[in-house]
Amino acid sequence: MSLPAPTADNRAVITGSSSGIGQALAEELASRGYSVILVARREDLLNQLAQRLTEKYGVTAEVRAVDLSDREQRAPLAKELASRDIAVLCNNAGVATFGALADLDLDYERDIMELNAVAVHDLSLAVLPGMLARRAGGILITGSAAGNMPIPHNTTYAASKAFTNTFAESLRGELKDTGVNVTLLAPGPVRTDNPDQDEVGNKIPEFIWVTAAYTAKISIDGLARNKMRVVPGLISKGMSLAGQFGPRAITSVVAGAAYKKLASE
Ligand SMILES: NC(=O)c1ccc[n+]([C@@H]2O[C@H](COP(=O)([O-])OP(=O)(O)OC[C@H]3O[C@@H](n4cnc5c(N)ncnc54)[C@H](OP(=O)(O)O)[C@@H]3O)[C@@H](O)[C@H]2O)c1
Repeated sequence: MSLPAPTADNRAVITGSSSGIGQALAEELASRGYSVILVARREDLLNQLAQRLTEKYGVTAEVRAVDLSDREQRAPLAKELASRDIAVLCNNAGVATFGALADLDLDYERDIMELNAVAVHDLSLAVLPGMLARRAGGILITGSAAGNMPIPHNTTYAASKAFTNTFAESLRGELKDTGVNVTLLAPGPVRTDNPDQDEVGNKIPEFIWVTAAYTAKISIDGLARNKMRVVPGLISKGMSLAGQFGPRAITSVVAGAAYKKLASE
């Protein structure tokens, strides 16, 4: 079960492609010949990326500047995707906060749930009927190793990623023999050029990180093979196993202490 071949009409959609893993996924898909629809809020960055991908790979690159945490902005995008030939959807946009939930901006926490979880559900439902009718397509969902365990001081993020992790792996189980692949990307730390990462990044040893380009490559390879879960890097694999199979009463205490420290420094 491979992915549909790129054509002049079909598209790979990548949310959160103005930076980080999403930008690397867009580059990886364009390098494989897919014309792309780039989605995020920062239109200037998306336009720069679109121009670069077109010049470098000769693909068509369309830009949709959308705040995916806003249902009114998201609705026209979902409608458009439902009506087009979408070969690949990478549901990748997502953000995190650190600190005790009650101390954080609660409206922003609500937005994170909408972005990290509800928008992923919404856009997947938009493309699914078309992919099933064509008996071809791939949905990559960027969850996180954080979705494998309870993490005090990262509560909304961990809970939203528990949704994405479970949604991706459950949906994949339903779509056997339909021609539609679903893969969960559940990374540990992935080095990106996002300056926000420096704050957390400086406290995590360098050897733990993997690159966004490597993550994107193995994610699209994994999606083409309908792999259930892609976890980039040995350390992330170890973290992932501990999160999935460790007793939650213990992982909650250990991860909570680490994230409390991250949030307070
Ligand atoms: N890097 C890691 O270590 C790591 C580890 C585990 C999981 N992940 C997951 O990987 C995904 C990508 O993360 P990243 O590290 O590449 O982060 P990043 O560089 O901060 O990228 C996040 C992307 O999401 C977009 N985005 C944020 N809020 C949005 C909104 N309201 N509407 C539309 N787009 C929005 C951002 O674009 P705009 O700001 O232009 O909107 C940006 O393109 C996320 O789901 C994250 O949870 C990352």
